[in-house]
Amino acid sequence: MKVLVTGGMGYIGSHTCVRLIESGIEPIIIDNLSNAKVEVLSRIEALTGQQPLFYQGDVRDEVFLDSVFANHNIQAVIHFAGLKAVGESVAKPLEYYDNNVNGSFVLARCMRKAGVKSLVFSSSATVYGDPDTVPITEASPTGATTNPYGRSKYMVEQGLSDLFFAEGDWSITLLRYFNPVGAHPSGTMGEDPQGIPNNLMPFIAQVAIGRREYLSVFGHDYPTPDGTGVRDYIHVMDLAEGHIAALKTVGEQSGLHIYNLGTGKGSSVLDMVEAFSAACGQPVRYELCPRRPGDIAECWASTAKAERELGWQATRSVAEMTADTWHWQSKNPQGYSPE
Ligand code: WQD
Repeated sequence: MKVLVTGGMGYIGSHTCVRLIESGIEPIIIDNLSNAKVEVLSRIEALTGQQPLFYQGDVRDEVFLDSVFANHNIQAVIHFAGLKAVGESVAKPLEYYDNNVNGSFVLARCMRKAGVKSLVFSSSATVYGDPDTVPITEASPTGATTNPYGRSKYMVEQGLSDLFFAEGDWSITLLRYFNPVGAHPSGTMGEDPQGIPNNLMPFIAQVAIGRREYLSVFGHDYPTPDGTGVRDYIHVMDLAEGHIAALKTVGEQSGLHIYNLGTGKGSSVLDMVEAFSAACGQPVRYELCPRRPGDIAECWASTAKAERELGWQATRSVAEMTADTWHWQSKNPQGYSPE
């Protein structure tokens, strides 16, 4: 089985490609390398013995996409390519809507031309906005998003849902990620954010390795057990396996399939700091700071639907998430080397 993986050189895409190859599925990667390094290819090869086919290009380039579909018998697409920094999206909304929304619909149009009707879309828990209750189920209200990034994911979900109801022969799976963290247990692949990390885990890792002086804890007056924000952190390897489970169970069934990919457990910022300190064997220095605009107090998933319908559930603990992150960061202090 050949699967086109857009954004397959990125953090979640590359870890998913490792598990695809190990599952006997051949990934064909397209990526514009706007937030990824070509070195990832050799890391995938070192782990799996196979270097996936890679075409540098942009999902908004219809001619490029048509050529890839014309040259390969692709059965399904996993669509990771997109911009994903919440704060950046507030400053650059047009770039987010062009990359994430326009890119997704150009891709769907090219899939239709090529007769490829199985699509797994990398969505996000941000489509739920600030939940009234937790845990969040797939039936929880969506759309009350608080930033252009979340709105772009919601728009794509809506467009793909409309496409399915217009043309019922598609298999469209929307995977709503909670908070992806961690790294491949080998320590050779991991998250490599460019510039100052927006997300908690890579920032903590950079404090531990000495690249950052301390972690700013954004808010300690939330209505949570220790006053800091609570999230559902999920190991990137669990997330990768969730994609394969989706491909194998509903990837060939016409339908609109929607699943949360989380652990069903919430951890606070200070929980993560404590776990990381245990993983790296040293305290992680932090300062308590005011809340970050747009943040919500708590968010974690109900995972019952994915367990029931995909036969998938996350198995890796917060201790493994932090240990694998530290293993990656300590072996690769500067991330993947620049070209
Ligand atoms: C987590 C917690 C912060 C940084 C975002 C996207 C979401 C997904 C994951 C793509 C919050 C606190 C953070 C820091 C801190 N990305 N924090 N100091 O905002 O839950 O979700 O990333 O799909 O779509 O919205 O993740 O890691 O930024 O924050 O205290 O330096 O850590 O306040 O409570 P978030 P995050």
